Amino acid sequence: MKYFRLSLILFVFILFFANCSKSPEQKIEEIQKPLQTISEAPNPNGQLIVWSEALNVGVAVINTQHKNIVSLVNQLNNLVKENKSADAKENMLDKIIADVPEHFATEEKLMKQTSYSKLLDNQQLHSDFTQKCVELQLKVKAGKTEINTEVITFLKDWLTNHVSGPDKEMGTYLVSKGIK
Ligand SMILES: [Fe+2]
Ligand SMILES: [Fe+2]
Repeated sequence: MKYFRLSLILFVFILFFANCSKSPEQKIEEIQKPLQTISEAPNPNGQLIVWSEALNVGVAVINTQHKNIVSLVNQLNNLVKENKSADAKENMLDKIIADVPEHFATEEKLMKQTSYSKLLDNQQLHSDFTQKCVELQLKVKAGKTEINTEVITFLKDWLTNHVSGPDKEMGTYLVSKGIK
């Protein structure tokens, strides 16, 4: 019994030091693993966001809406990369911002219907993003900012993190309630 306890303590110590010996980069790498899956998907056309299993939430109507938004963000990225006119980029941003409320409404309706416990958290995330988009749109229209790589990075990061995180978790719950 004594030897068993001693070996257990030794084992816990080894585990603890093995984790401490990881560099901050290794730890960040582990946290970011789900997102890497997104960029590891085949990308023959060099698209900004590539659809992959990491973005699949399991509910058809939500996947279709996500794919549409991803496609619009990719198109906006192409306009930025090709140095297209400010008007062309502004029109594409307007399209994205016009499509997002319908998508959020779809998700929120399904979460309400199934009494999802994280409905309010998700609603808050949606409304924060909407507010940021509206502020961005106003700045662009007032000529105070332009649609550049910084804007693209903001849209890409929010979308991929939100879809592969809270949306995927919500999707798993909706599927368990029979929604596909
Ligand atoms: Fe979503
Ligand atoms: Fe969402």
